[in-house]
Amino acid sequence: MFFEMEIRRLGRTMGAEVTRVDLNHLGAPAFAQIRDAFHVHKVIAIRDQQLTPAGQIAFSRRFGALEDQLNAHYTIDGCPEVLVLSNDVRDGKPVGLIDGGDYWHSDSSHREYPSMATILFAVKNPLTGGDTEFADMVAAYEALPEPMKGRIAHLNGIHAVSKLKNKRVQVSPRRPDGADFYERQKAIPDQIWPLVRTHPVTGQKALYLSPRFTIGIEGVSAAEADQLLDSLIAHQVRDEFIYRHQWRDGDLVMWDNRCVIHRATGGYSYPDIRTMHRTVIAGDKPFR
Ligand SMILES: [Fe+2]
Repeated sequence: MFFEMEIRRLGRTMGAEVTRVDLNHLGAPAFAQIRDAFHVHKVIAIRDQQLTPAGQIAFSRRFGALEDQLNAHYTIDGCPEVLVLSNDVRDGKPVGLIDGGDYWHSDSSHREYPSMATILFAVKNPLTGGDTEFADMVAAYEALPEPMKGRIAHLNGIHAVSKLKNKRVQVSPRRPDGADFYERQKAIPDQIWPLVRTHPVTGQKALYLSPRFTIGIEGVSAAEADQLLDSLIAHQVRDEFIYRHQWRDGDLVMWDNRCVIHRATGGYSYPDIRTMHRTVIAGDKPFR
């Protein structure tokens, strides 16, 4: 039986752990407390959970509609909203998506409706590595010098999904079909979003760009945009904005893509298995 939920800050500017709660038996007041913690702390790690894929879907849906997973190949039978991230292999075939998210990004910022929040449940943690890093884009925005805030206030970033359009990233050599995959993705239209977006719930302003998806700035020459993006990217991942999550068994981690960027740090390899179940809550169009 659980008593009062406890919420404790983990990072310098964001990130918190939530303990003494069972997501399978979550009343409305406890859910409201978790939702508030998510808005305040931006990344929350809810400890010691035992969740089936259906249980994860039920919890995730309380925040809003779920996105369809693009990689239908690696979803769970009967639960198309749950994507398996794993380096495990069965009968010579990967059981999940292997190496996603190694460059800093906000999930689906290249789509017409970028993701609101992403939820990962740790099914199996590796003995070494597998940490996830998060960077606080509200703290990063607030720390910008005033002239820079003024300079970017009305600029829009161009977000592209294909790695072949982006000179700041490389196609993973571990992905044999990578070149063809990203070549086909070049046809997908880019999205244009404010470099500074306002959070629809908290009203806070956050930097909204990433080395993985932002390839240019609307109406600005390539040379000038590159210089500006290089400087903003160097700024947004400064140590003081980062919280690095070291996963424990039973962790469910949820982050707010509207004000946080993240990346996988790797550092583990087969047969040291890492398996996660991922659900994604659909979002609205970013606004200034
Ligand atoms: Fe991601």
